Amino acid sequence: MVKKCGLILAAAAAAAAVSGTGAFAQTQWSIAVAENEENTVLNYTVYDSRDSADVEAIASCPNDDASEYNIKGVMYQGVNYGGSPTGGIRTNITAYIEPGDKLRISFDYRSPSYEENSAYDVTPVIEVKGPDGVVSQRYEFAAAPQSDVWTSYTSAESEPVEFSEGDSVSLALMNERGFWHMKGLVIERYGETPFISGLEIGGAAEGGVLRDGAVTVSGTADGPCTLYTAFYNNGRLLSVDSRSADGSFELSAQSSGADEMKLLAWDGMEPKTEEITVRADGNGSYKPEEAVSSLKEKYSGSFLIGNIYNNYNINDAKTALILEHFNVLTGENNMKPEVTAPSKNYYNFSQADAMTDFAEENGLDVIGHTFIWHKQSAAWLTEGTADEVWDNMESFIGNVAGHFKGRVKGWDVVNEAIRDNIDQVPPSWSYYIRKDSEATGTPWFRALRDSEYIYRAFVMAHEADPDAELYYNDYNLDMPYKREAAALLVKHINDKYKQEYKTDENLVDAIGMQSHYSLETNVDDVRASIDRFREIGVKVNITELDVCINRVGDNGEGDSGAATELSASDEMKQAVKYAELMTVYKENADIIDRVTFWGLNDGDSWRSPQHPTLFDAQLKPKKAFYAVMEPENYR
Ligand code: XIL
Repeated sequence: MVKKCGLILAAAAAAAAVSGTGAFAQTQWSIAVAENEENTVLNYTVYDSRDSADVEAIASCPNDDASEYNIKGVMYQGVNYGGSPTGGIRTNITAYIEPGDKLRISFDYRSPSYEENSAYDVTPVIEVKGPDGVVSQRYEFAAAPQSDVWTSYTSAESEPVEFSEGDSVSLALMNERGFWHMKGLVIERYGETPFISGLEIGGAAEGGVLRDGAVTVSGTADGPCTLYTAFYNNGRLLSVDSRSADGSFELSAQSSGADEMKLLAWDGMEPKTEEITVRADGNGSYKPEEAVSSLKEKYSGSFLIGNIYNNYNINDAKTALILEHFNVLTGENNMKPEVTAPSKNYYNFSQADAMTDFAEENGLDVIGHTFIWHKQSAAWLTEGTADEVWDNMESFIGNVAGHFKGRVKGWDVVNEAIRDNIDQVPPSWSYYIRKDSEATGTPWFRALRDSEYIYRAFVMAHEADPDAELYYNDYNLDMPYKREAAALLVKHINDKYKQEYKTDENLVDAIGMQSHYSLETNVDDVRASIDRFREIGVKVNITELDVCINRVGDNGEGDSGAATELSASDEMKQAVKYAELMTVYKENADIIDRVTFWGLNDGDSWRSPQHPTLFDAQLKPKKAFYAVMEPENYR
């Protein structure tokens, strides 16, 4: 409805000459681009690990007579990546200007950590980059005087910004020390509770136009916030004004010639907006944005969204959270061999049945986790002669798979059969499977002395429940050598099965990438693994996703250390990591059926001190949650 000045990077880009200035050796950062075409007010925040700053950018559009287009109160979400030497922050503003527009930028910048020299801590520039990333034009702006630790920057109007189709324009705040990395924009509102209540709007209109000063608004915001009033005529923005409010507010706004006013509210960093529209024709609306707030709904077109179920600490609040966001469950421990098969000829399904009943009553799927593993398994399974252990394996898998037949979607038939510390390309499919060494082995191999025990387990599981999907599940599969070991192993199993049973079907339907990650995880490695598994013709499931703040070893162990506080910066970095991962998963949704998170909340996680999940210990959504909801806003 609102025509935004230069909203689109028009294909009809001006054919103005572009003078090259050589390569600009800067990391190309992908940046938030506001999607709310309706709202001309965008909110960003910049911060590094130690402090925060507000940035306000104003862009004018002299092309468009009598109108000034404002990007005001823009909140950049920043991530300090710890000092890339040529760092800076930037946002892509192509979406807001057209060729030939001029720009004016103003913002306040505060950097207490560099107090003595914050006046020259940041240099704002506008860059026009060609599709090849080369800067063709650059406009610099002078810094205004410093006051206290705040420095105000207001630029003169720039030269007209010229660019061609495929170019991008970014506002960059160049930081000499290179600490800034700007990411993400959050504009959606989540949750049901109205942020603003007790709203009263008064005013008068004449001839379809709001009378000057006629609009008064009062109400109460649920906490401190910034309110924006924006006036429009025929969909064109006339003016925008912002003010802070703490609880109740009352404002009288100048409407000069407007036919419509919008009031927008942002409560700081929270992704919550509300929009109140008043029109001179007597219409209007009060619209808390109806955002999709459920993970499973958000990804319903892509994959199932799972979490783990733990019989010991489930309660009403957790149940509600599970049902809101997840549509598939894995037992955190309740279907492990030590629980289902604690001793020979004795099975105990009480916990797993409780979970499965809960899932069935509520329409969730269940994943069976797990049969053959070197951990959390009773000794009887691997005791005796090789023949006896083959029998144990068969009766164990047969009994457990038989019990849950028709009730589970699939089984992690073999878990973690590939060893750690692989330092070269695996020479064969069996070279790096766990064998008998104390450090890297498994009691299954020790008893059976046959690398084909993995294949046999899959055949047994298939015989016991032919309709269940079967998975090979492991951790660190983003690591190149371990990735390759898993690809070779699974390919071997499927090839052997096809040959032996004269079939085209896979025995292993999917590789489960556990995905116990950290801020260090490189999503390019994750993508490369998915690509590799695609090559061998299997699907991929993300089966145990969590993202630790610090890396927790490479041995698949939990972290029972002391909890450290989650800093705002780490919380944002984690959100960005989740967003990057979800982006890779979405790109591969054709072969990914499920993304399961390992832990409902940070309090319950097996790596609790690392704050690895989407919800905090009070079950409040973290930035990671919003990043999974809207990955494009956190890249
Ligand atoms: C973990 C559980 O989360 C913990 O509660 C338990 O003490 C140990 O196991 N890989 C797996 C999961 O396949 O079963 C593990 O779960 C985490 C690593």
